[in-house]
Amino acid sequence: MTAPVLPRSVGTPHTRLEAREKVMGRARYAYEHHVEGMAYCQPVQATVASGDVRGVDAAPALARDGVLAVVWAENAPALADAGDAELALFQSRAVGYRGQIVAAVIADSLEGAREAAGLVRVDYDERPHDVILRPDHPELYTPEKVNPSFPSETGAGDPDAAHAAAAVSIDATYTTPAFHNNPMEPHATVAVWEHGGLTLYDSTQGASAVARTVAKLFELEPAQVRVISPHVGGGFGSKGLPRPNVVLAAIAATVAGRPVKVATTRQQMFAYVGYRTPTIQRLRLSADADGRLQSLSHEASEQTSRLREFAEQTAICSRWMYAAPNRRTAHRLVALDVPTPSWLRAPGECPGMYGLESGMDELAHEAGIDPVELRIINEPEVHPESGERFSSRNLVACLREGAERFGWERRGEPGARRDGRWLHGMGVASSTYPAYQMPSRAAVRTRRDGGYVVRIAAADIGTGARTVLAQIAADALEVPIEQVAIKVGDSGFPQASVAGGSSGTASWGTAVVLACRALREQLAEHSGAVPEDGLEATADTSEFLKSREQLARYAFGAQFADVRVDAHTGEVRVSRMLGVFAAGRIVNPRLARSQLIGGMTMGISMALHEESVMDPRFGDFVNKDLAQYHVAACADIESIEAHWLDETDDELNPMGSKGIGEIGIVGTAAAVANAVFNATGQRVRDLPIRLDRLVR
Ligand code: MOS
Repeated sequence: MTAPVLPRSVGTPHTRLEAREKVMGRARYAYEHHVEGMAYCQPVQATVASGDVRGVDAAPALARDGVLAVVWAENAPALADAGDAELALFQSRAVGYRGQIVAAVIADSLEGAREAAGLVRVDYDERPHDVILRPDHPELYTPEKVNPSFPSETGAGDPDAAHAAAAVSIDATYTTPAFHNNPMEPHATVAVWEHGGLTLYDSTQGASAVARTVAKLFELEPAQVRVISPHVGGGFGSKGLPRPNVVLAAIAATVAGRPVKVATTRQQMFAYVGYRTPTIQRLRLSADADGRLQSLSHEASEQTSRLREFAEQTAICSRWMYAAPNRRTAHRLVALDVPTPSWLRAPGECPGMYGLESGMDELAHEAGIDPVELRIINEPEVHPESGERFSSRNLVACLREGAERFGWERRGEPGARRDGRWLHGMGVASSTYPAYQMPSRAAVRTRRDGGYVVRIAAADIGTGARTVLAQIAADALEVPIEQVAIKVGDSGFPQASVAGGSSGTASWGTAVVLACRALREQLAEHSGAVPEDGLEATADTSEFLKSREQLARYAFGAQFADVRVDAHTGEVRVSRMLGVFAAGRIVNPRLARSQLIGGMTMGISMALHEESVMDPRFGDFVNKDLAQYHVAACADIESIEAHWLDETDDELNPMGSKGIGEIGIVGTAAAVANAVFNATGQRVRDLPIRLDRLVR
């Protein structure tokens, strides 16, 4: 008997399985889950950046109709320690930053809760605050590790001596401001005590992790907390860890004895859900007359809060991008009276590659070498620091194909192409992102109708994860995708890793493949009718991951920007953006393109628009809404193209996939900044490239 020929699902541009549900408005997001007897909770935020809460006068709020309770440090339930002071709500009177949650009102209605929150009077013993990152800050220190667990410093040879002796060199400092994630759906939670435990409808990138952390905080068994999040309106990393909103909802439901909803407002998104630290990066690069790097030194200074250390891994990209005999990467951190920074799309690589790739452009200019060629000249054979073999590395092919597609040969000398008031220029930057893979589990069960159900606590945050996993399962089971149902977004399903680090498809897909293979084996061995409730197989990828050879696994890309700059006003427009990526096998070209152009759009936004401005007097960000925090709009994006190479890499996972969620943003800002230099002859080393920085 020959097996029927089935369509291969992986590699086809399947539309999102939940697309219809979403456009019909039927896909329910966290806040839209409704339970009888709902109450609403509104936080009260600190109005000082440092100090202690002396007292809270709740009387005016409690006098309002419909107000059920006012919670603060004196009357809140005690929580266990879960290792993140941002989640220890009301456990102390100390204020770590302006905007921190210091009290909360629970009421019958959302409007009532918001109004009453405005009536809660909080008195403080205020302390002076310190909120500005400076390169000479006396409290800068070297953290032990950078996110998540890389060494802070690495080095080889003598970069300073090599720099001093080299034929060409640059020594430049670049800065990036604080950036806020701003997914479309702000963080929200509905908390319900039921069935002897806690159910949380939460907007999260990782249901399993939220359940684990909340169980710890409330001293419950892990199985007593169920986190449900079938649809999530983006996160960009801000929902990668449990945030205060989920803890607040659980506390409020405990205090009120009713189900409670917590919605984070857009303004509150600028306070307690995380953001990208500002960075100050000093790049010292040197090369011989042929452009071969002699030294590469990348030192980053950044901030954390007084509540928790988050050390972004800004300089680690410089450890694997280019060959150079003498090298240094280092991170320094200062704890300020600010919210704790956290993950934002490609934490580390994104700001770090802005620094490194700007430096490479400056070096190319100094050396009189084409910037594409300079990168090719410095392509390493193996990982330049660990000596590990790359499972695959196609940066050079991306650069060459990108240059060809983009028309790079038409690029001129800096400031040489002018058309009326517009100065035109082109820039290039490399991109990279690690091919991470984390342990995950999955289960697959036969259905009575001949189909299959796959369950995994993965998160679809708008990326299309659900669809991609269905494609992977269909191929592993050798059935058409129509016979596969995928259930994600529930901590009651087999435990899965977070939707972060561009690792979802690789991590969850492997678990799904292993579970499907196990089920097929079971079916092959099974004789007689399948039992009423079906057959089920589960898988855990921990052993698979341990068994893999230790290799350097990274995705690469090359990004090109064509900009025009108004010579009178300094207005920068990105006329064209083009990226070519090598990210293993692309599981779904339609969804991949969406991820890549989304990343590039966000990178253009970072280069030209986004900036969270800290007011040193109040110690808080001042532009706390989307009118004042500018995110690229459709009108800012003209032509944008994403391409990829057919990269085969058999040393990753059963799909041969790397990851595509973050690599799109990584090289973009440098490509734009380098194009602005080529257009104007002016180098702006501080993002965003504002008019006032360009017109000097
Ligand atoms: Mo992403 S910042 O790894 O969620």
